[in-house]
Amino acid sequence: MSVSPTEIALLNFYRASELHGGLILGQMVRRTRDAELITRLTQHSAEEVMHALLWTETIVAVGGRPAPVRDTYQTRYAEEVGTPISMLEILALTQVFERRVYRHFTLHLRKPDVHPAVAATLRRMLDEEKGHLTWVKHWLDAQPAGRQSEVRDVLKRYELADERIYTVISAEYGWRMAA
Ligand SMILES: [Fe+2]
Ligand SMILES: [Fe+2]
Repeated sequence: MSVSPTEIALLNFYRASELHGGLILGQMVRRTRDAELITRLTQHSAEEVMHALLWTETIVAVGGRPAPVRDTYQTRYAEEVGTPISMLEILALTQVFERRVYRHFTLHLRKPDVHPAVAATLRRMLDEEKGHLTWVKHWLDAQPAGRQSEVRDVLKRYELADERIYTVISAEYGWRMAA
């Protein structure tokens, strides 16, 4: 079973975005003294960097070559809503992004012609993304009551940006959305 150059490019975009996400989360570790948050961010960062490695290995396994790209989902966000700075912004954006990734990987897995190596990697990602979604949601929910309207506003702003970005990226990678 062969994988088209367009799909390799998409996998390479996944690879670069996982790595970019992992590096951003890793940088956030230096911004907190909260022991629990240090642990969560470090683990989350490590898992995203591992996801980048898994995509790299998957690209090679299906006959492609990982290639450096500047374009990632995170750079698209920055172009659309500015660079997120605060812990709240970073984690809200992470939550919106991970929800998108979860839905998108589920759709990718349902495609009829998915290479078995790609399917195996997608399944593993979906499994680990659940943990990422859960801890970040708990953190957002645990923000002080006086901050909850800000949390909702930031999430809403990023969700709207994410809709726009996803539509553009889907068109660029020839992705036909099921829904
Ligand atoms: Fe990931
Ligand atoms: Fe994740």
